[in-house]
Formats: sequence, C-alpha cells, structure tokens
Amino acid sequence: MERIDAIRARLRARGVDPRDVDVLVADATGTTRAWVLAHGETSIDAAEVEALAARRLSGEPLQYIRGRCDFFGREYLVDDRVLIPRPETELLVETAILRAPRRARVVDVGAGSGCVAIALERARTDLLVVGVDLSVAALAVARRNARAHHSPVRFVGSDVLDALRAPFDVIVSNPPYIAGADVAGLQVEVRDHEPRVALTPGPSGTEVIERIFDAAGRALVITEIAFGQADAVRELAHARGLAVHEIRNDLAGIPRIVVASRHHAGK
Ligand SMILES: C[S@@+](CC[C@H](N)C(=O)[O-])C[C@H]1O[C@@H](n2cnc3c(N)ncnc32)[C@H](O)[C@@H]1O
Repeated sequence: MERIDAIRARLRARGVDPRDVDVLVADATGTTRAWVLAHGETSIDAAEVEALAARRLSGEPLQYIRGRCDFFGREYLVDDRVLIPRPETELLVETAILRAPRRARVVDVGAGSGCVAIALERARTDLLVVGVDLSVAALAVARRNARAHHSPVRFVGSDVLDALRAPFDVIVSNPPYIAGADVAGLQVEVRDHEPRVALTPGPSGTEVIERIFDAAGRALVITEIAFGQADAVRELAHARGLAVHEIRNDLAGIPRIVVASRHHAGK
C-alpha cells in the first residue's frame, strides 16, 4: 500500500502528464479526479495505477487506456479499432445540425466510433442518419455506441458510398485526410496507436474527399479537412462542378469544415 500523493509524485517524475496521473489514479480507485486531489494521504495498492501508467508511458493514448472519450456532450466507447474523436470534429456536427434540411436523409462517411452520426441524430431526431465505414472492426464499436445512446442510426460496411443505393440529401464526413508521407511525422500516440485507415487515404490526403465529391449527386456535402487543405479542396470541388458555400474555421482559426454542393443557394 502507498499514499496517493507519493504515487502521484513518483509517476509525474517518470514523465506521465500530471493530469493523466490523476485520471489514472481515479480510474484505478473507482473515484473521481476531484476525490484524488482531496485524498493524497489515503493509501492504495499502487499496482493497477502502475500498470495503467506504463501503458501511457509507452505512448498509448489516455482515451484508449480508459476505453472512453467525451464528444459533443456524450461519452463514447473508444479503443484501438477507431479514431479518438477530436474536439474540432464537433464543428462538423454543429454545421450539420444547422444545415441539414428537415427530415433529410443523411450519411456519415467514415463513421469510426459513430460519434458524428450519433451526436447528429440525437440532436436532430427528425433526420434519418446512416453511418458507413470500410472497417468492420470500427462498425462494431459504432453499433455499441448507438445502443448505449439509444440511437437508431444504422451502421453499414461500405467503401465510401459504393454499397448504398438510396440517394442522400446530406453527406457528412470526417474522412481520413492526412497525406501518406506525413504519417511518419505524427505524434507517437497517433501514428503508432490509431488505425492507419482512419488517418490516411493515400498519397495526396484528399482521395476520400474526392470520391465523396464524385458521388455527391445533389447532396449537400459537409466535410472536415486537414490543416492547409482548404485551397486544394475548394479546387477539387470546383473541378467537379460543386459550389463551395462556406469554409468554417475551428477554435484555433484553422479552416476546418467545407460545405459544398451543386446547388448554388447553399442548402
Ligand atoms: C478520421 S476517421 C473519423 C472517425 C469518426 N467519424 C470521427 O470523426 O471520430 C475516418 C474513418 O473513415 C474510415 N474510412 C477510411 N477509408 C474509408 C473508405 N474508403 N470508405 C469508408 N470509410 C473509410 C476509417 O475506417 C475511419 O473510421
């Protein structure tokens, strides 16, 4: 048995982020971070915290160790089968909530954990939302998350929209968008732990976005893009006869969400 404040000091000294240390101690003791901060003098068995901290020190993301992650006010199951939902992707959901016409048929391309499709459907229950993913493993996670949130979103295996027949009014997507050559330079947490298929679609980084534009028909496309991709994506849309209605910046001021369609009115 060892005092919590001693465990915290030791793990911090070994290089675990102080906030992560407190979260891991809270998880290992079945308490909260606030409880951990207020009970430094309490003694616990350090073995479980040590095991969790070792995973963190090896570069495994905190969200995979915990098996969960917050997104748009809800908690989602996450593990190494799916990308960890990012805060900037909340802007994708927010944009779709504002833009989707009433009772629209919506497809989320590259659903991953299902966070975008489920968050959108829970906020706009008038919408008919389907999520697709190439990864069978990711679809299993998305279906569990849908059940956990009592969401009727259906998750279907498909390479972009190839397996679907129904026309859609809105296509939302946070596609893989990192250029293949850039993957090597990513943080260890991302490069060595998140699914590669969730990160990069190929050499240019825009391959899935191009396929979404090609398949868009008359649907409104709302897609997340990478840092520095806005001009290229605008050109790719124009080359296919789509008008770009809006490019929204994320909280860091980075152009992040592209809204495009063949309709020039912007809806
Ligand atoms: C960046 S992740 C986004 C996951 C989730 N929507 C989110 O925002 O957290 C991209 C997802 O697209 C999927 N994907 C990659 N290529 C695909 C393709 N050609 N067709 C369908 N899904 C694909 C990956 O398996 C991954 O789950």
